[in-house]
Amino acid sequence: MNADEPPPDKQDGAARPGITRRGVLAVATGGLLAGTVVTLSGWTPQPKPILAPNGGVRRTPLPIPPLAEPEIAHDGTRIFSLTAQTGQSRIHPAGPTPSWGYNGAFAGPTLRAAEGDRVRIVVRNELLETTTVHWHGMKLPAQYDGGPHQPIAPGEEWVAEWEVEQPAATCWYHPHTHGTTEAQVTRGLMGLFILQDELSEWSGLPIDYGIDDVPVLVTDRSFNADGSFAERERTAFGLLGDTIIVNGALSPMFEVTRALTRLRLLNGSSARTYHFVVQGAPMTLVGTEAGLLPDPTPINSVTLTPGERAEVLVELEPGQAAMLQSVPHSLGLLQSTSRAAGADDRFDVLELRAAPSFAGPDLSIAGLGMIAQALPPPLEVPDATRSMVLTNNKINGATMEMSRVDQVVTVGARERWVVDNQHHLPHNLHIHNARFLIVSVDGEPPRDYERGWKDTVYAPPGRPVIIDVEFGRSADPEWPYMFHCHWLMHHDMGMMGQFVVIDDTQEPPTAISTPAVHAGNPAGGMNGSH
Ligand code: C2O
Ligand code: CU
Repeated sequence: MNADEPPPDKQDGAARPGITRRGVLAVATGGLLAGTVVTLSGWTPQPKPILAPNGGVRRTPLPIPPLAEPEIAHDGTRIFSLTAQTGQSRIHPAGPTPSWGYNGAFAGPTLRAAEGDRVRIVVRNELLETTTVHWHGMKLPAQYDGGPHQPIAPGEEWVAEWEVEQPAATCWYHPHTHGTTEAQVTRGLMGLFILQDELSEWSGLPIDYGIDDVPVLVTDRSFNADGSFAERERTAFGLLGDTIIVNGALSPMFEVTRALTRLRLLNGSSARTYHFVVQGAPMTLVGTEAGLLPDPTPINSVTLTPGERAEVLVELEPGQAAMLQSVPHSLGLLQSTSRAAGADDRFDVLELRAAPSFAGPDLSIAGLGMIAQALPPPLEVPDATRSMVLTNNKINGATMEMSRVDQVVTVGARERWVVDNQHHLPHNLHIHNARFLIVSVDGEPPRDYERGWKDTVYAPPGRPVIIDVEFGRSADPEWPYMFHCHWLMHHDMGMMGQFVVIDDTQEPPTAISTPAVHAGNPAGGMNGSH
């Protein structure tokens, strides 16, 4: 943990009461600001402590989201169907939980495709409100991005289609409506989108879905006495639950049947950050959000802020047990803010229990071949340099405006962005249609678990993060992409901007005028109508 502590001058503590008080004040202000739109009754100053941090009496077998079976068209296009629907889930012993899912009651199937594949996804909205589906981590034409400009009205269908132009990665999908994203994701709308490529498939990485290639979607919720989600209990950061849910289960256990297990960790929470460790076995990082690492890296821990992913390998002996936990971590915040953000919590996430004997292919970390291309060095001459200043729910002083063009990027550009969180609260930045490498954090090299392709990066207060960004290959002056904070309450409060990608034959647009702009915000207003 020591390596992750901030330098003493960035910490506060009992010895510096002035700073502690400022911290308390700061949290209160943030809470009030949130309270003005969330309703004051919904605001709790401190998160509730995690219930059953060491699991319940009984562990539930880890549910594995089904792997979607695509229909294959004549031309090879992989056609997936997703229906956003309501349902009842058995998550909590207190009773059935009204929830939302894709093709089921909670969360969605895992989609899988490979680099070079053409995919078509038919999305049907059987909810009573407008939704969208965004493919987080994907480089694709802007009109299929699934942001607030592609609303799907109740009863309607929307079709997205593109050719996968990027190497292996653990992407995911979720709603991206204007103002109702937190509520929709909280009810359960999220799923994984796994991308494969040839290099990684031949490398010796585990690829048997649900057997040695295991999705781990980590979220948190609080429950009402009847088992329903307590949706109104928000903090200054958004929803921070007292109960951890992994793939829709409390206190899960996964039975390991192979020596090498690949965990695809996704922070699907609205506001909670996780600092994952594996107790009882070493952990090896093989991938970050937007791609695999050329060299598997032994790590002690990995921090994931909302929207971030990591792929880790755990090697076990028959009969051995290990525990994936989240432990207290420093987000570079004042102590009181850190506590309020849930970063001081410690809890079990997933127990790994190895069978008495193993079957299947005999893979090992030592036996891995090349899994990905080498990472490029920092850009010597970026095509452009942009600065993203994060303040209270604003980026560069503005909140999200559907008709405004905030940035214009040239197709295929490689740019340097400086993400500067000038606010005292934790924020991150996610960029659509892009992947990036962290060059430095406050002048220091990235941590071991941050040295890979990413699409979302944590921005600690007062410590500018420099990233080198590679954009996708599609150009279109009419449809924008988003960049935003992935704390979903901040996302809903408009901590987001838009960029278009054009080629050199196209004029930079001065405004966005998609049908969604003309319809006047059809994807719901702030916090929707619940
Ligand atoms: Cu995961 Cu723009 O979102
Ligand atoms: Cu934020």
